[in-house]
Order: sequence, then structure tokens, then C-alpha cells
Amino acid sequence: MNASKRPRVLVARRIFPSVVARLREHFEVDTHDSDTALSQAELIARLQGCQGVFVAGTEPITGELIAACPGLKAVCSMAVGYNNIDVPACTARGVLVSNAPGVLTETTADFGFALMMATARRITESERYLRCGEWTTWQVDLFAGADIHGATLGILGMGRIGQAIARRGALGFGMKLAYHNRSRLSEAEEAELGARYLSKEALLREADHLVIVVPYSPASHHLIGAAELALMKPSATLTNVARGGVVDDAALARALHERRIAAAGLDVYEGEPAVHPDLLTVPNVVLTPHIASASGPTRLAMCELAASNLIAALIGGTPPTALNSQVLQP
Ligand code: GLV
Repeated sequence: MNASKRPRVLVARRIFPSVVARLREHFEVDTHDSDTALSQAELIARLQGCQGVFVAGTEPITGELIAACPGLKAVCSMAVGYNNIDVPACTARGVLVSNAPGVLTETTADFGFALMMATARRITESERYLRCGEWTTWQVDLFAGADIHGATLGILGMGRIGQAIARRGALGFGMKLAYHNRSRLSEAEEAELGARYLSKEALLREADHLVIVVPYSPASHHLIGAAELALMKPSATLTNVARGGVVDDAALARALHERRIAAAGLDVYEGEPAVHPDLLTVPNVVLTPHIASASGPTRLAMCELAASNLIAALIGGTPPTALNSQVLQP
């Protein structure tokens, strides 16, 4: 294609060079080759003259930005969660939006399960103890945690990732499965997974290990706060691999501090990368820096999927995972 006619796109984050090279086969590519997110004003300035943008889950694509970038035709994210993108504003202006579902399901489920296990079996707490030289004798109840096998796994949010975690629990660890979701699975799906549908309150009461996998939206803001934590068993654990803001971190830190639940495993935080200071001082929480989908092959697959969406949206073809493909209708 004639270089001067090629669409211009911005890659708004440092990503894999091989994916940038693939984009360069189709586009004039501007890169923000940095691990620091561009501000809204910087993004608006950099997007002038661009038809497309490649983002992660960290760049706010607001209605204001869409209005200020009239040439923009496609916003393609390498994340599955898209709460950073105002999809209705994009749709209203004919801007295609895509996310990256599917390719990260199993990897994220592996991590969710690992985080739940680390939380229940007190892996990081006991490692800190050992590293500090505090291990001087065998003790009958040293870091005695909760069992995973045979326990009740409560899944809040039974989408692709929730179901993949459920399969791990049932098939690998003989866990009993209960779930709550905005929309209930079909009878056949419930039977295949062996999962019981419960109200949110019943799920909180029954779960030995609660794993949260709901998308963030105004409706799921602080879905778990002080009142919900109060319903949980004192022996229960809570694991959040969804989004910060779904859990009220201050209320959770209080509940952990007061041992109203046994422990928590968190990969996401309100206002991340900042972490609520009270979470840093409680011992019974496993903290990871939003890495649930971070296996090497999966992060590459996420980038490749976002690139495929961008190429299809601006060059031709059907974007594989568009969120508002109606904007492509003539
Ligand atoms: C990660 O949090 C994602 O939404 O892909």
C-alpha cells in the first residue's frame, strides 16, 4: 500500500516489538514506548491525525477524548475488561471498540486458582516468616490454613473465567461449586459444571473460598463491602482477580485485621497501582500486582488479538472480538 495513504495508529503502551512490527506492515505507527500511561490530554494530543489506537486496560477512553479526536475510527484493547472505555460514546460516534476475550481465560483461571490456594494455605505469609529467620522449631499448628479439596468454592461472576475456575475446582480438587451471576446459567451448563446457583447473600454465607470474577461497572462498584463481608464465615477466604473497585478495600482491610474472615488474595485494587495502606499492614492477605493474565504466551496472544482487531477495523475484514460491530454496518 502507498505509504502516504496508510492509516495512522497510536500504540499507547510499550508492547511486544513483534506486534508493533506487524502493525507497521499496515499502518503508520506512532508508539508511546513506555510503561507510564499517557494522560488524557497527552492521549488527545497524540491521537490527532490517528484513525486507530491500541490500548491496554489502563488508558481512559472517555467521551471527551472521542469528541476531541474526530478522525478516530477504532479503539482496540488488549485487555478483556473494558471499563476504561466509554463504549456507548464510541458507538455514538461510529468508533469501533474491541477487547480481548477468550485468549486469557485459562491463564487467568490458573492464576485465580493459584491465588486462592496461596491464600488458603498461607504461602506468602509463611515464606515471609521463613525469610525473616523466624522459623526455629516445628509446631503442630504452624501456618495451619484451610483445605481446598472438598471445600465449597463460591464464584461471584460466572462468565468464561469463572467457569474455567469452577472446572479446576470441581475436576481437580473435588470442590463443591456454588455461584452467583447477574444472569443464571442454563440448566445444562449448571449440570455440566455441577454448580448450584445461589443469591449473592447465600453465596457469601456458604462459600469456604469466594472467588470474584465480575466485570467492573457502576453496578458492581463495592459489590463486596462491610455488609457483605459480615455475611462470610470467619474461616472463609476471598480472592479478587476481577477489578479494583468491586471490593471496598478499606472494609476488606478492616475485616482481615479483625479476623472477621480468614484471609484474602488480591490481584487488583481500587486506584491501582496504589494499594490501600491498611492492606499492606495486615499479614493475612496475599497481594499481587495485577498479573492474572501475565503468562508470556498469553500476553502475546492478547496483543496479537488487539492488533488483528485494529487491522480488520481499519484495513478490511471482520474484527474478531468487536464490542460494537454495529458501527461497521453500512
Ligand atoms: C486484565 O485485567 C484484563 O482485563 O485483561
